[in-house]
Order: sequence, then structure tokens, then C-alpha cells
Amino acid sequence: MIPIGDLKRQYQQIKSDIDSAISRVLDSGWYVLGKELSFFELEFANYCGKKYGIGLGNGFDALHLTLRALNIGPGDEVITVPNTAIPTVAAITASGATPVFVDVREDSLIDPSKVEDAITENTKAIMPVHLYGDVCDINSLNVISKMHDVPIIEDCAQAHGAFYKEQTVPISNIGCFSFYPSKNLGALGDAGMVVTNNKSLSEKLKLLRHYGQSDKYHAKISGFNSRLDELQAAILRTELPYLDFWMRERRARAAVYTTSLSDIVDTPIEKLDTAHAYHLYVIQTDQRDELKEGLNERNVGSDIHYPIPLHLQEAYSHLGYHEGDFPVAERLSQRILSLPIFPQLEDKEQMKVIESVRSALE
Ligand SMILES: Cc1ncc(COP(=O)(O)O)c(C=O)c1O
Repeated sequence: MIPIGDLKRQYQQIKSDIDSAISRVLDSGWYVLGKELSFFELEFANYCGKKYGIGLGNGFDALHLTLRALNIGPGDEVITVPNTAIPTVAAITASGATPVFVDVREDSLIDPSKVEDAITENTKAIMPVHLYGDVCDINSLNVISKMHDVPIIEDCAQAHGAFYKEQTVPISNIGCFSFYPSKNLGALGDAGMVVTNNKSLSEKLKLLRHYGQSDKYHAKISGFNSRLDELQAAILRTELPYLDFWMRERRARAAVYTTSLSDIVDTPIEKLDTAHAYHLYVIQTDQRDELKEGLNERNVGSDIHYPIPLHLQEAYSHLGYHEGDFPVAERLSQRILSLPIFPQLEDKEQMKVIESVRSALE
């Protein structure tokens, strides 16, 4: 089976670097909140063109604790999209705030004109998702954000390295990342980070991730435990210099798919001035289920990101949404299919995927 991702191959590619980073931490005897994390926070914030990086336990907490740090909670509304990974919305509800969904454009990304319509006096944040590694229209959202004095919190969990006009995501001031193993920059366990230029936000996040302690045994606020540990930080530091190379490898494979398949399925559209990070390569077709089945029969992996929009999930039924509320997101959920894409995918494997898509659709 050709997998849709393969973390073993990535480890093999840089095994000796990773192994020596792990040994370095084991030898140091210091495993939580140490030098590796401080360096990685600086290095990744710098990569993103931001002043501060705050390492956290996972991407969910990057979103959740950012909301808490901005004092967003019960009674507040956070605008986001229904076609995202569950944690985007779980993070909003964990803060006590209410998710408010808006529909997306045909490219699967938030539709800024729908955001404008959804703003109320209770709106306290807009949470766009750079889904699949593509970059949302942050310029239009910035206008709405300034007009209504509502911050933008970019969910960058799938978009490490993606950029718009030379600005790596986040394009605005707050970006939340996951380093879950399968992400474009992935730890060997759970990890996450917020990057920002906002000093007070960064200070508050540092308190929140460590029980609210300002110094040992002194609790300034009520907090949580969500720290990016030294082993994961050292591993991520080792991988960071490869990120741009891996992204180019992903983009090269995406270009091959697009040239080879755009006559028979809808392929992702490359936007002017934007570099899509292709965390996922997602095609669209009305024969999605038959294609998925046909690929499976031909030993080619594929997946659906995501099959059930969040407003139709059991957990969020109390929000009162119904089928038909977000026609674009709902239609996309019936048509999308993710094909194998990762930097180590071999040419002959990709050719097999392409031939299989074509023959399955014939
Ligand atoms: C869009 C999106 N947001 C948030 C997350 C949450 O990240 P994590 O799994 O590190 O909690 C993920 C990853 O699963 C994601 O894909």
C-alpha cells in the first residue's frame, strides 16, 4: 500500500541527527523547561518572523490557551469554519467560548465576506484555519479585525512554512502551531507553539502553561500544565533546518499531481504571491467514494479531511446548526480526497498513484 504519509522514512532520512539530539538531552539530565526549548522558541519564532515563541504541549493548547490568555471565555463568540480538524473547535469550547461557524470559499478556506456578516457584539476573536497548508485571505480579515477591534488567531497547525508575499504564516499577529508527528514540522510525540509579537500575550501564555507560576511556588494566576518538553524541542530544532527543503519537495510533488490530474479531477489552485505548504494534497471529484474505493483496490492510500463538518457533529448539536447551513463546506465534504504526499514519496510511487486515479475514474 502506498501510504498517504510515512514518518519512518523521514526519521531514516535524518536518523543520525535525531539520535544525537536525543542523546544530548538524555545526557543533560534536564527534561522540562530548559535550554532546548528556549532555543527552539527563538528559532521557530524567528523562522515565522515573530518576536516571541511559547512552546506548549500540543496544538490544541496553542489555540485553547491563547483564547484564555486573551480573556476569552463564557458568553464570548469565536468565529471559525466548519471544515476544520476537530481540535480547532474543541479548543474554543474548552475556553468556555461559543464557536460561531461561517462558510468557506471553493478553495476550502474561510470566506471573509461571511465573517463580516457573523460579527456580533459578543465576537471576541476570528480563528481562520490555513487548511491543508494553503493560506487564508488574511488581508481581508485584517480589515474586519481592525474595524471591529477583534483579534485574529491563525490556526497554522497544517501550514508550517506556507507564506504570502514572503511573510511566513502567521500573516497577522498570532499563530498557533501543532507539531504533531505527521505535521510538516513534526515532533516524535505531542508538541505545539504560539508565535506572536505581542509581549503581554507571550508572558501570559508562559504563566498559563506552567500552573500560573511566575516563579517557583508562586502562583500568579490559575493555570494549566502544557509544556513542550526538552526531547521534543531538541528533535524539532534538528528538523527545522530541513523544513524549507521538505516544503519544496512537497510542492514539487503537488505540481506533478496537478499537471497530471487536472483534466479529470479538480486540483488545488495555486494563488498569486502564495506558497501552499501542501501538508495535504486534496483533490475534488463527484465520484469521490468510488475513487477512494478504487484506490484502495489498487493499494493506494487516501483519506478524507474531513468527512463530517463540525456543525453536523454530535458534540456540537447543541449549537443549533442544521444541514444546509454551510452549503460550500458541506458540498466539499462530499467531494474531497487527500492523495499520498510527503517529501520522501518516490517518483515511481507517485506515478502509480496518478495511474491509479486515472484508471479508477475510467
Ligand atoms: C487544523 C488543526 N488545528 C489544530 C490541531 C491540533 O493540534 P494537536 O494535535 O497538536 O493538538 C490540528 C492537528 O491535529 C489541526 O490539524
